[in-house]
Amino acid sequence: MTTAEVVIEVDNVTTAYAGHVIHRHLNLTVHRGEVMALIGGSGSGKTTLLRLLLGLEVPQAGSVKIFGHPLGRCAARDLERVRYRWGVLFQNGALFSALSVFDNIALPLRELGSVPPDLVKPLVLLKLAQVGLRPEDALKRPAELSGGMVKRVALARALILDPQLLFLDEPTAGLDPDSSKQFVKLLRRLRQELGLTVVMVTHDVDTLFAVVDRVAVLADQHIIACGPLAEVARLPHPFVRNFFLGHIERCAEEDLRRFRLSLDDTSDDGGVPAVLRGEETTH
Ligand SMILES: Nc1ncnc2c1ncn2[C@@H]1O[C@H](COP(=O)(O)OP(=O)(O)OP(=O)(O)O)[C@@H](O)[C@H]1O
Ligand SMILES: [Mg+2]
Repeated sequence: MTTAEVVIEVDNVTTAYAGHVIHRHLNLTVHRGEVMALIGGSGSGKTTLLRLLLGLEVPQAGSVKIFGHPLGRCAARDLERVRYRWGVLFQNGALFSALSVFDNIALPLRELGSVPPDLVKPLVLLKLAQVGLRPEDALKRPAELSGGMVKRVALARALILDPQLLFLDEPTAGLDPDSSKQFVKLLRRLRQELGLTVVMVTHDVDTLFAVVDRVAVLADQHIIACGPLAEVARLPHPFVRNFFLGHIERCAEEDLRRFRLSLDDTSDDGGVPAVLRGEETTH
């Protein structure tokens, strides 16, 4: 892992809103192809950290580099190019309520401006299928969707430009256990098939057990730990203890492996059509 290309580099970042310090001297490195989870209590600054990584917030001190480009200090044209290499699923889905599902997913393509209009439809329909939605769902408005569908549409929009890097803020929050499991399986498949690097905020233990390689814990304005699940879960910090309460035993390498294998069974495809799994189809 240490030899893999560094995709995200947070160096000594301090963030404050109106004098109220959220992060103090944060350091974080994410490598190509890994799934990094960010956990921490409500208000600990997880979403703010994601916003820093997206260049939507500017730190008081320190720097953030994505694909080697220092945010806030690189040329506007470079930044534009970096932005097209990532996709984002915001905490509440952030779909535009006045736009149809189709137009929500197509938005980044249209903003890009260089995609021929006749390609927009097939690309949107492909992404819809990739996240397990039907073509007829494209005509719906966000208000007509279930919570799980909103997440899938938001994921399709995040994936529409074929990003290398995906940011997810609480992707399974608010979903019932079954939808949550489906979403996690979908993420696992997409990660395997598209080779994505993922930074994901989550408070869902099952999501952590299912997909993440490393976990970073935000508490007391710092990243107090960053490492494999089994290591982090044993940390004697009150937040961590509480978070993993009753789940420590599941962190053993063998148990994790078994849990992940059980998610990969073929009885349920997690919403990804056969064509995207490299299987033969008749159409
Ligand atoms: N735009 C803003 N202006 C002022 N304060 C803000 C702003 N955004 C966030 N904050 C404050 O920063 C702190 C961290 O907020 P943030 O949304 O990053 O937390 P979080 O860890 O994502 O919480 P949650 O788990 O509830 O989503 C909170 O105290 C919040 O009130
Ligand atoms: Mg948040």
